[in-house]
Amino acid sequence: MSSDSMSPITSRRIRKAVFPVAGFGTRFLPVTKTVPKEMLPIIDKPLIQYAVDEAIEAGCDTLIFITNRYKHAIADYFDKAYELEHKLEKSGKTEMLELVRNVLPDGVRAIFVTQAEALGLGHAVLCAKAVVGDEPFAVMLPDDLIWSRGPGALAQMADVAERDGSSVIAVQQVPREQTASYGIVATDAFSDRCGRITGIVEKPEPDVAPSTLAVVGRYVLDPRIFALLETTKPGKGGEIQLTDAIAALLAERTVNAYRFEGTRFDCGTHLGLIEATIRFALDHEVLSEHARRSMQAALDELGVEDLP
Ligand code: UTP
Repeated sequence: MSSDSMSPITSRRIRKAVFPVAGFGTRFLPVTKTVPKEMLPIIDKPLIQYAVDEAIEAGCDTLIFITNRYKHAIADYFDKAYELEHKLEKSGKTEMLELVRNVLPDGVRAIFVTQAEALGLGHAVLCAKAVVGDEPFAVMLPDDLIWSRGPGALAQMADVAERDGSSVIAVQQVPREQTASYGIVATDAFSDRCGRITGIVEKPEPDVAPSTLAVVGRYVLDPRIFALLETTKPGKGGEIQLTDAIAALLAERTVNAYRFEGTRFDCGTHLGLIEATIRFALDHEVLSEHARRSMQAALDELGVEDLP
C-alpha cells in the first residue's frame, strides 16, 4: 500500500455527532418496554444528555439521532417545551428555565433518522450517511458514560483527529475474561495516549483476543466508512457490525486507538448504572454530603463493615 493512501484526506474539526439509539435495551427490561435506555437518569439528567453535552463541548453543532418508532421519548426530550417554559417564566423560576432550554443550546440542531429495522450498530451508523456527507464525524454510544474532570473524552479525541487527520477510536484496558463483550484492537506501540490500530475484531473469546484493549463507545470516523459499511455483510450475532467496517478501513486510512483521560461507566448494565449514580452523587455539589451519609447508613444497616 502506498503511503499516500494512508495519508489524511482531511484535517477538519468534527461538527457532526451520530447517536445510534435504535437498539432495544433488553438488559434493562422491563423498564425499557416504554422508557428508552438512553433516557435512564443519572441523578436528574438522562444518559443521552451527558453524551450530547460531551459532543457539544467537542465542537459539534449537528446531532444526528438514529432512532426507531418506539423511541419518541428521545425526540420529545429535545423538542421545545412551550407550556412548561411559559409556566417557569411566569413564576420567575429562571434557573429551571435555563436548565430546560439548555437541553439543546442555541445554534445546535437535532436531526432524527429512523432505522426501520435493528440490523446492527454498523447499519445504524450507515443510516446517517446522507446527513453526514463527506466530512469526518463522531459516533457516540450514550450508555458509555465518561466522567472527566478536564476536557471530555470526545473533545480529547477530536483534537487528535484534527491534528493527525486520522480516525480515532476510544479504548481502555479490560480484564482478559471480558474480551467477548467488546471490540478488541491490536495496535502499534502507544505514544502520548495514541497507538495506530493494526487489527480489530468484534467480541473475541479471551484465548484468541489480540489484546485486552477494548473499544469504548466513542469514535471519530473518516466518511469513507459509509462506503465500507455498504458492503459489510452481517457478522457476529447476524448484525452488520461497525467493527467489521473499521477493520476494512484500516487498509485504507490511519485509525488511531486513543486512551482517553476519564472514567467510563458501562450504563448499559445494571452495575454500571449503579456505579455511575454513586460517583455522580458523591461528586454532586448539593447531594454529596447526604449521599455519603446514606451510603454509610445502608452499609451499617446491612452489617457491612469492610468491603473486601
Ligand atoms: P447494544 O449492543 O448495547 O444493544 O447496542 P442494545 O439494544 O442497546 O441493548 P441490549 O444489549 O439489548 O441491552 C449498542 C448501541 O448500538 C445501538 C444501540 O442503541 C446502542 O446504542 N444500536 C444497536 C442501534 O442503534 N441499532 C441496532 O440495530 C443495534
